[in-house]
Amino acid sequence: MILVTGGAGFIGSNFVLQWCGQTDEPVINLDALTYAGNLGNLDSLKGSGQHVFVQGDIRDAALLQRLFAEHSPRAVVHFAAESHVDRSIHGPEAFVDTNVMGTFRLLEAARTHWGALQGEAKQAFRFLHVSTDEVYGTLGPNGPAFTETTPYAPNSPYSASKASSDMLVRAYHHTYGLPVLTTNCSNNYGPYHFPEKLIPLMIVNALAGKPLPVYGDGQQIRDWLYVEDHCTAIRRVLQAGTPGETYNVGGWNEKANIDIVRTICALLDELQPRADGRGYAEQITYVQDRPGHDRRYAIDARKIERELGWKPAETFETGIRKTVQWYLDNPEWVASVQSGAYREWVGKQYGGAA
Ligand code: NAD
Ligand code: DAU
Repeated sequence: MILVTGGAGFIGSNFVLQWCGQTDEPVINLDALTYAGNLGNLDSLKGSGQHVFVQGDIRDAALLQRLFAEHSPRAVVHFAAESHVDRSIHGPEAFVDTNVMGTFRLLEAARTHWGALQGEAKQAFRFLHVSTDEVYGTLGPNGPAFTETTPYAPNSPYSASKASSDMLVRAYHHTYGLPVLTTNCSNNYGPYHFPEKLIPLMIVNALAGKPLPVYGDGQQIRDWLYVEDHCTAIRRVLQAGTPGETYNVGGWNEKANIDIVRTICALLDELQPRADGRGYAEQITYVQDRPGHDRRYAIDARKIERELGWKPAETFETGIRKTVQWYLDNPEWVASVQSGAYREWVGKQYGGAA
């Protein structure tokens, strides 16, 4: 079996659902259920013996030791993290705690477990660390896309904490020989995306008749990947990646934020027009920029394609249409994640502007 951390979050739950849909191998899912974790994402696995959920913290060394001893996973896929850049600006400590200390504790537990394995089990063990393109910093308009050898230059407390965790993972391979794999992926979007991030926030605010808060001039560029494509990439790296290597994962979809927002508005105009007959784009509101806002990210994903034969299946056009439709089809999910804590966050981050 495999041990997944953070499997009740956005990407982790999509990964667990895909894993259980496409393999028979059991998965232990360790998640603390922070504000970003939602067991409801995994409702369709209820009653399935293939998925075992454990509520707990990756910083809890005793719990980790018990889980490794009881289940002897053949691999760890590590998603658990504090993941929102804006929250890291308001409160960086939780990011250092979970992303750095949590990854350290998990590495220690994995190292102890792996060290006691023998023969084929020891050879086959893998620790896959899910990281981000944000560790590479920001690009100018014509700068070449990030490759696996681009120097790290993280700019936010979030990306600095992820970069630190990547360095620990690297060191555990170099020093102890732990068979690690690291993936650095671009911006994901799709079902179960918590509505504090750009795409789901714009969809839910548009439908609620609220402003669509675009930071600064809206010309910042991100590379977007449909979440299921990220999950297939991770599975491929787990299966065939070379220990000690890192793999950039991206969708070849560079888009300016304002174009993303306009695309969402146009899809909603088509799929669920406003009652007053006007366009959702009227709700777009430019707000104060994010401090230290990275201007552009772009991923060069040729290594994973060349060495492991992975390519995204979705284009941005197909993926964003599926995503908008998913939010239209799942208003109960949206309501269930908009708790008092969510409303408090929106008030703190946007004041009256969202
Ligand atoms: P998320 O915030 O939606 O989910 C994080 C999950 O981790 C939640 O279920 C949460 O409860 C859990 N968690 C948080 N702290 C924990 C702790 N101390 N112990 C156990 N569980 C804990 O995040 P996401 O967007 O799904 O991202 C998952 C991973 O992928 C992160 O490591 C992130 O850095 C990375 N990543 C995300 C993106 C993206 O676009 N979302 C892109 C590239 C990489
Ligand atoms: O690049 C990968 C990263 O993508 C992941 O590592 C992070 O976990 C994930 O959160 C995401 O980070 P971003 O900061 O790029 O995502 P976010 O959705 O917060 O913002 C996307 C862009 O949209 C960014 O340029 C900021 C802008 N934005 C965001 C919000 C929430 C707005 O203009 N308005 C908003 O309200």
